[in-house]
Amino acid sequence: MKSSPAENGFDRLVDAVNGTISRELFVSDDVHRAEQEHLFSRAWLFVGHESQIPNPGDFFTSRMGEESVILCRDRAHKIHVFLNTCRHRGMKVCRYDEGNTPLLTCPYHAWSYSLDGKLVGVPMYNKLYEGVLDRDAWSLIEVPQLANYKGAMFATWDPLAPPFDEYLGGAREHLDLVLDARDGREGGSEVIGGIQKWIVPSNWKFGTENFMGDTYHNVSHRSVDLVGISPNARSGMKGRRADELPGTQHVWLSYPQGHGVHSMLLPAENSYVEAFRDDPEVEAYFRRCYEERKARLGPERSRWVGLVGSLFPNLSFHGRQPRSLFVWHPHGPRSMEVWRFYLVDADAPEVVKDFLRHYYMRYSGPGGMTEQDDMENWNYATAASNGTIARRYPYNYQQSMHAGAEVAPGTMQTTQINEQNSRDFYRRWADYVGNRDWNVLLGRDAGVKR
Ligand code: FES
Ligand SMILES: [Fe+2]
Repeated sequence: MKSSPAENGFDRLVDAVNGTISRELFVSDDVHRAEQEHLFSRAWLFVGHESQIPNPGDFFTSRMGEESVILCRDRAHKIHVFLNTCRHRGMKVCRYDEGNTPLLTCPYHAWSYSLDGKLVGVPMYNKLYEGVLDRDAWSLIEVPQLANYKGAMFATWDPLAPPFDEYLGGAREHLDLVLDARDGREGGSEVIGGIQKWIVPSNWKFGTENFMGDTYHNVSHRSVDLVGISPNARSGMKGRRADELPGTQHVWLSYPQGHGVHSMLLPAENSYVEAFRDDPEVEAYFRRCYEERKARLGPERSRWVGLVGSLFPNLSFHGRQPRSLFVWHPHGPRSMEVWRFYLVDADAPEVVKDFLRHYYMRYSGPGGMTEQDDMENWNYATAASNGTIARRYPYNYQQSMHAGAEVAPGTMQTTQINEQNSRDFYRRWADYVGNRDWNVLLGRDAGVKR
């Protein structure tokens, strides 16, 4: 099939063939508006985890692009995602981050909606609206498609978007490395504690790109490794990744849907490496998980260990510890709101969950020692890119330009540190903001050249 043409000039901002990308992507109001219009209104977006709303009436207020949405469970246990805006004058019908409620009652004039979105209460209905207001027609606005993948909830505003499985494509097995239990059972994870939310004066794409395999930036975290924050630190193993087995192969993959991951393949002969020496009980738990996973998945599949990855457009994950899902919500062109969801095995002992919770706080979030390094880079990069002169000069994405190999149609694999994943992400980004059709966005038809 032939590709539809890009309707605007935004795809010219990305030159994946020569490895340059315009700074406009990270600072421009026009680019930002095009993203809201053509990208966040179509792509499948992560909206939360099923374990956050276990009971009827539970809700979690989430976001899709810059808009507030409500993830909730109705009385019949069905999960919904609604736009958080009243049909009367637009007031937010839910002003809390999360909770449980029988009804969503608008604070402005008190129209009330049930958790399946129906308009069920209109003050003075008989006197003021009888015979005129069709309540069914004024329900909350619901997403046309919602998917539950191993507890992770995804939604899209586009009724024509492909099913989530197709959108996820080959990145599935790497997302599984995050969502599956540590002993190899499918799913079984839950979100622990509250969600960390904070604002960073940086464009949202810095986050996505960093986590799809920017291994080059590890130098930024040198001070953390010197201080030693790992769960082995008190026994002398300070580096966050000092527990890696010799002979491990790092693999970076970029997918035609725009996703990118960085995972590692353990040597064929592998054994458990202690990573939680600071607590013998926690160590024993993870040793047992390792053995059970190996037995369950077999010697080949169990060699894969997830490090990091990003699903197009703005969900990233950590596959090991701190095991988490995080979203880079756009907040204007030069600001983003970061949300981190921390995962544990739902049936892990409390001592393990508590140990991990402390490690998560030490490592990640606005007060976490590693995350602070990243934020510092993105803050200054965004501010320094915003000037009239600075904007005339593109960024360089020429690292490992020809090191990738196509291992499946549209899927590139690279085995050295690279910017292949980023180049492919921005190609797909350009196809979205250029408003190309789903055949291009899924990689079936040609879009921006590689
Ligand atoms: S805006 Fe919600 S009832 Fe009027
Ligand atoms: Fe980092």
